[in-house]
Amino acid sequence: MIRLEAITREYFMGDVEIRALDDIHLTIQRGEFLSIMGPSGSGKSTLLNILGVLDQPSSGSYYLEDVDITQLRDKELAQVRNRHFGFIFQSYNLFPELSALENVMVPLMYAGKPRSERIRRAEELLASVGMGHRLKHLPTQLSGGEQQRVAIARALANNPTLILADEPTGNLATDQGAEIMNILQDLNAQGTTVVIVTHDPSISTYGKRLIKLRDGAIVEDQAIAEIKKEA
Ligand SMILES: Nc1ncnc2c1ncn2[C@@H]1O[C@H](COP(=O)(O)OP(=O)(O)O)[C@@H](O)[C@H]1O
Ligand SMILES: [Mg+2]
Repeated sequence: MIRLEAITREYFMGDVEIRALDDIHLTIQRGEFLSIMGPSGSGKSTLLNILGVLDQPSSGSYYLEDVDITQLRDKELAQVRNRHFGFIFQSYNLFPELSALENVMVPLMYAGKPRSERIRRAEELLASVGMGHRLKHLPTQLSGGEQQRVAIARALANNPTLILADEPTGNLATDQGAEIMNILQDLNAQGTTVVIVTHDPSISTYGKRLIKLRDGAIVEDQAIAEIKKEA
C-alpha cells in the first residue's frame, strides 16, 4: 500500500541543520496495524506527518499504491489526503463551537454529501464508537475519552483506507485509552490499515507490528507476536 524509499526530512534553524528523518525505508501493507515508538524528538511525528501527506520529505520517494506522490501538486495531495486518510491527534482537535454530530458532519460536507445523508451517516458513525447518546453535546461537555471517540468517528467519515494517530491516548486515563485502542483494533479487524505513534509500551502492543525510531532512523522492526513470544 505504502512504500517509503530513502526518505529524509531536514529542518534548518539558522545555520544549523536538524535531520528529523534520516534515510527511512518502510513498507506498509494493506491491513497492517503498525505502532511507531521512540524517545521524544526521535522523529515519530515527522514520520507520521509524512505518511499522512501533511508534510513533504526533503528527499526520497513515497509510493502510495505504486504512485510516487512526492511528484504530485498541492491540490492532488489534498485529494489523496481526503480520499485515503483519517487523522487522530493527541488533543482531539474537535471544533469547540460544534456539537459531536456537527463535528462528524464537517468532512461529509467537504465531500459534497447532502445534509440528510450527512446527518444519517454522522449518527451511524457516532453510534459505532459508542457515542450515539451524546449527539448534541459540545466538546467541553464531554470527557477526554468521549472527545477522542468523536474524533475517531470524524476521521472515519469518508471511509479512509488508512488511519493515522499521533499519541491518540496520550491525554487519557488508562481505561479510556484502552477503549480507544479497542476501537482502533476493531477497525483494523474490519480491514482498515492503522498506524499509531505512542511512547507507551502497553499501548504499542495493541498493534501487530512495532518499529522503533532513534535519531530519525528505524532501529527495530518486529512483529508484536514475536515480541510477546520473547517476553
Ligand atoms: N518545525 C520544525 N522546525 C525545526 N525542527 C523541528 C520541527 N519539527 C520537528 N523538529 C525537530 O525534529 C526532530 C523530530 O521531531 P518530532 O518528529 O516531532 O519528534 P517526536 O514526535 O518523536 O517527539 C526533533 O529534534 C525536533 O526538534
Ligand atoms: Mg511527536
